Amino acid sequence: MTQVTAIEGDITAQTTDAVVNAANSSLLGGGGVDGAIHRRGGPAILAATKELRATHLPDGLPAGEAVATTAGDLPARWVIHTVGPVWAKSHDRSAVLASCYRRSLEVARELGARSIAFPAISAGVYGWPMDDAARIAVGTVREEIAAGRTGGIDEVRFVLFSPDAHAAFAAQLGTGGTEA
Ligand code: APR
Repeated sequence: MTQVTAIEGDITAQTTDAVVNAANSSLLGGGGVDGAIHRRGGPAILAATKELRATHLPDGLPAGEAVATTAGDLPARWVIHTVGPVWAKSHDRSAVLASCYRRSLEVARELGARSIAFPAISAGVYGWPMDDAARIAVGTVREEIAAGRTGGIDEVRFVLFSPDAHAAFAAQLGTGGTEA
């Protein structure tokens, strides 16, 4: 059974097999999670994303999609880059945000990853309200587990950067932050 947990911490420090990057479509870096992963992961990650841009992804990675690279100097083995939707009051992009989690889990399974760490995708620069971001994140992961699509993945870990974000995810998990 895939265990779902939520901790407060830094995504770049996670020793899970895969860590998910809240990237943008260019895959060429940015701030927030993206900046931290490239800074701590080192140049090998950017070299790998530039190679993707030069070959399979000439137009960049579409929102809701996911692609893996080396994790460079990070403790993890792979970085799974995904592009969250920018929040818009007038336009419901929930399905795109859900797709980030679904596609990242699919890529993790294809890699043979046994554990994966997610940040709160779209809940920073992209402006998604944290409670709703947590609802979509936890709900999508639970759907994938219930559908039997997370075989081989022992742990899905949400790694939150503030007490408030952690509280939002823990509330969705319905426990003090972990769920068997
Ligand atoms: N570890 C874990 N979580 C982090 C870290 C970190 N080191 N740094 C930031 N966060 C949190 C933020 O506080 C926020 O809750 O991750 C969440 C996502 O924030 P962003 O990194 O801003 O990601 P997002 O909202 O998806 O915006 C993506 O920002 O950095 C650029 O290149 C990126 O254009 C893209 C956009």
